[in-house]
Amino acid sequence: MSDSQKITETVAKFMPDKESDPLIHKHGYIGKPFSRVDGQLKVKGEARFTAEFKIDNLVYAALVCSTIAKGRAVKIDASEAEKVPGFIAVITHENAPKMKAPPLQDITDISKGFAASNLPVLDNKVNWDGQPLAVVVAETLDQAEYAASLVRVEYEVETPSVSFDDLKAEAVVPSDILGEPPEVKIGDADKGLAEAEVTVDNIYRTPRYNHNAIEPHATIAAWDDDGNLTIFDSTQTVNLYKHTLAGIFSLKPEEVRVIGPFVGGGFGGKGGLWTNTPLCAAAAKVAKRPVKLVLSREGVFRVVGGRTVSEQRVALGANKDGKFTALIHSGTTATTTHAKNPEQFTFPARHLYASDNIFIGQKVVNLDTVANTWMRAPGESIGTFALESAIDELAYKLNIDPIELRRINEPEKDPTRGTEFSSRNLIEAYKRGAEKFGWSGRNPEPSSQRDGKWLIGQGVATAYYPVYRFPATARVRISADGTAIVQAAANEMGMGTATVQIQHAAERLGLPIDKVSFHYGDSDLPDAPIMAGGSSQTGTIVAAVQAAVEKAHRELLALAGDDYDSPLASTKYEQIEARDSGLFRTDEANKGETYSSMLQRAGQDFVEVEASSEMPLEVMNYSMASYGAHFCEVRVSEESGEVRVSRWLGSFDCGRILNPKTAASQFRGGIIMGIGMALTEETLFDERKGRIMNRSLAEYHVPVNLDVPHIEIIYNDIPDEQAPLGAHGIGEIGITGAAAAVANAIFHASGKRVRDLPITLDKLL
Ligand code: MOS
Repeated sequence: MSDSQKITETVAKFMPDKESDPLIHKHGYIGKPFSRVDGQLKVKGEARFTAEFKIDNLVYAALVCSTIAKGRAVKIDASEAEKVPGFIAVITHENAPKMKAPPLQDITDISKGFAASNLPVLDNKVNWDGQPLAVVVAETLDQAEYAASLVRVEYEVETPSVSFDDLKAEAVVPSDILGEPPEVKIGDADKGLAEAEVTVDNIYRTPRYNHNAIEPHATIAAWDDDGNLTIFDSTQTVNLYKHTLAGIFSLKPEEVRVIGPFVGGGFGGKGGLWTNTPLCAAAAKVAKRPVKLVLSREGVFRVVGGRTVSEQRVALGANKDGKFTALIHSGTTATTTHAKNPEQFTFPARHLYASDNIFIGQKVVNLDTVANTWMRAPGESIGTFALESAIDELAYKLNIDPIELRRINEPEKDPTRGTEFSSRNLIEAYKRGAEKFGWSGRNPEPSSQRDGKWLIGQGVATAYYPVYRFPATARVRISADGTAIVQAAANEMGMGTATVQIQHAAERLGLPIDKVSFHYGDSDLPDAPIMAGGSSQTGTIVAAVQAAVEKAHRELLALAGDDYDSPLASTKYEQIEARDSGLFRTDEANKGETYSSMLQRAGQDFVEVEASSEMPLEVMNYSMASYGAHFCEVRVSEESGEVRVSRWLGSFDCGRILNPKTAASQFRGGIIMGIGMALTEETLFDERKGRIMNRSLAEYHVPVNLDVPHIEIIYNDIPDEQAPLGAHGIGEIGITGAAAAVANAIFHASGKRVRDLPITLDKLL
């Protein structure tokens, strides 16, 4: 039995535990708090993650990584490694199978796959500290790691460009920011600022961050005798990995299969392919055995990039009544010549506030580092820190409540695109949040609330993340036994993807929820660029499944044809609805037939179709985004500067919520990451050597349970008519604005405004 079969078999046990309002559809599956269908497998330890697949004849790989940031490996001496018992092979640029450099990650064209960097997979030219230079394969993991430690590399060292502070003055305007113009000018922002009655104009800094998913990057690679490559991988996109790997190894896409039913966290770090995956495949080719390569925690810091550093300026001008006369958000990030990732920190400012005068501008500086990459809400999370801190600063200067200031500047249309909003109820989210959080009881005066040595403060900030959707393909099989299988090359990192898609398919097919299975996590499923990224996956699959179900229904009607034994003879698609395990006429309630009956009459065991969704025209025609309002309460110790987040409420506006339980979990996960971003997380980077200094969870601090209070989640649940199922993506919205909410609460508590993250004790004393 496959894992995905096992998953769907558990679904019947997870019926809803409370009635929700019947916003949608007659069967009531949408909007109900189903528990995750993969939950039981996970708590029982039966969910198999990449490194746990049992493969015969498996051997192990370990990496040898560069200890300099720039130069050339002139000699790689593995003679001592070869003497280690169990040693099988060492793979360097000299004996590796031919690998083509992959194309860059670029969500404007994801058809050919992409990697996080377009450097050759294995090369003796060193581009960053930590770059893999050799792979050692041995019979056991210990032998591989020990042998790898004995490989000696001689370098020709060059001086790397690794200091952001030294080089930021030379920053340039990139060609585009994720397909959007790098600069936007509306009116005259400098003039608007000069003429404003009240202004704020400050620099905000955010450090580097690194990915620390619980499951490190892992791969098992195996070649068969015909030269087909099978990869088990912890990836956010089996399908795009398939295409990228096919390109690297000059294979046809159908000669590569990528399998990954469970992923222990990705957050953007498993979206673009990193070198560990093709290196594992190359090692398997040389060793002529299946190879497993699991990155150590340190290995993830070396091989996988994180979020870039940023320096941002936000300048706001307003009249005394609070109306903006100017909005400027500009700044610089670091990327590399072998990545294309400026980090879209100005995206929120392009869409959140009305002003006659706007200037948006981003610059980048190229450094000799590992490729920076997506990290949960890339750009938006650090951009909202700066923007939403500045709004709070202006509110204090104006003596206007920060929620009221946002209401005053709420735009009617998208301020930079000029398009209508498909659905935007941010102010409603603030209203509901304020009421529930008790905002009106707050004394706005800084340092006015205390409990012994603890100063108490509350802050708000806006969350913003755009809606993305990609055209995709899904397959639906409706069987005569009254069951259905829905298939899409989707990816489950624990968000509830399978759960929500089963809810959706059961609703659309009119089948009981325990009769519907969802298969995913395998690139042999319909070929489509589906990615658990950009908060796009749910809408992307929903639209494809919708197309496939419609096609299946049309085929079933065609089977009935004009056979007068069928109650659906000569019925048009427009006349039917799916319910009670079949199709029924909408004009004559009794006229209809179950799927089983239709298929039996036609002498078929099943009907199976594949269909693709349309281009995401809605995203082009409308301004579409998820929104939210964070309410954060902190306690700041007057003695030590220690900050405790004591209360949190997130009030979201993300269209229709498909599953309150999995959605709340997504929102909370984002907010917890935001708390980390605000208070603890920081990659310590040696600006002389270009080396990350805290490559472990002992020194790279993420929030633990005691750092996180109960997080209350509420949402508007107002469907967006333009979006599939009325739902916006919710994977990334939670972290956006969260760090600003903490910073604003800290200012309210202590009177100290910190504009560079993380807000550690030393900055508050
Ligand atoms: Mo998200 S950073 O697109 O995985």
